[in-house]
Amino acid sequence: MIGVFDSGLGGLTVVKELLQKLPNYKILYFGDTARTPYGTKSAETVTRYAIENTEFLLEKGAKLIVVACHTVSSTAIPVLKERFKGVPFFEVVTPSFKKALQLTRKKIIGLIGTRTTVESGIYQRLFAEVDPEIKLIANPAPLLVPLIEEGWLNKPETRKIVKKYLIPLKMRGIDTLILGCTHYPLIKKVIAEKAGKRIKLVDPSEEVAESVYRYLEENSKLKEELLPNGEPEIWVSDLTPNFEKLATLFLKRKVTLHRVTW
Ligand code: DGL
Repeated sequence: MIGVFDSGLGGLTVVKELLQKLPNYKILYFGDTARTPYGTKSAETVTRYAIENTEFLLEKGAKLIVVACHTVSSTAIPVLKERFKGVPFFEVVTPSFKKALQLTRKKIIGLIGTRTTVESGIYQRLFAEVDPEIKLIANPAPLLVPLIEEGWLNKPETRKIVKKYLIPLKMRGIDTLILGCTHYPLIKKVIAEKAGKRIKLVDPSEEVAESVYRYLEENSKLKEELLPNGEPEIWVSDLTPNFEKLATLFLKRKVTLHRVTW
């Protein structure tokens, strides 16, 4: 069983790829809707949530954990690995960084993400380590997660806000844009339109699914323990009005929600 978590809907962008790439594996998803958004909270709080989410998924039988959240990926991975020794963790920051590195020609890369992700400085450090010539222009985009959770995927207000967030990045001449929050692929069309044709977008969902696939291929012991797939099992910490509707729409299959009672 593959355990996946995020603060809400965003991680479903990774689930969609996992379902395509690994149709025979059962996916257990946890969306922490009661405590979303994560991106405005301190690294310490986000780490505490990430530990609790991991415990929940492991108790439910997950054998590996996909952290489908940039905010958690940029703040809590060392703690999670230390605390849950032996559990394979997959995160979203490293694949985004690698993909951006491959795509950029001008070495001017843009990043939009939550405040906590941008302020963690993780992307700045990763790029500086491999190529000090790379310029990373980062802009926190804190209004996007609530708009997406609200289902405002293509409203004029959302389009205007996206445009505003991208202006400083475009002015600095970025040729590649990291969608540094797993919610953002849900409004990829709007972002692509506002970014313009010359800017390549980095969404790591495919790469994450690919590395989980490779890991499972190489790890036959784990493979035998996994169950045949059904529908993804989706758990949330609060039954918010839009979640089921948006999840069904996005995953293009019927989604039944289970509510965690902690
Ligand atoms: N989708 C998550 C991320 O990638 C969380 C966003 C949030 O809850 O603020 O950062």
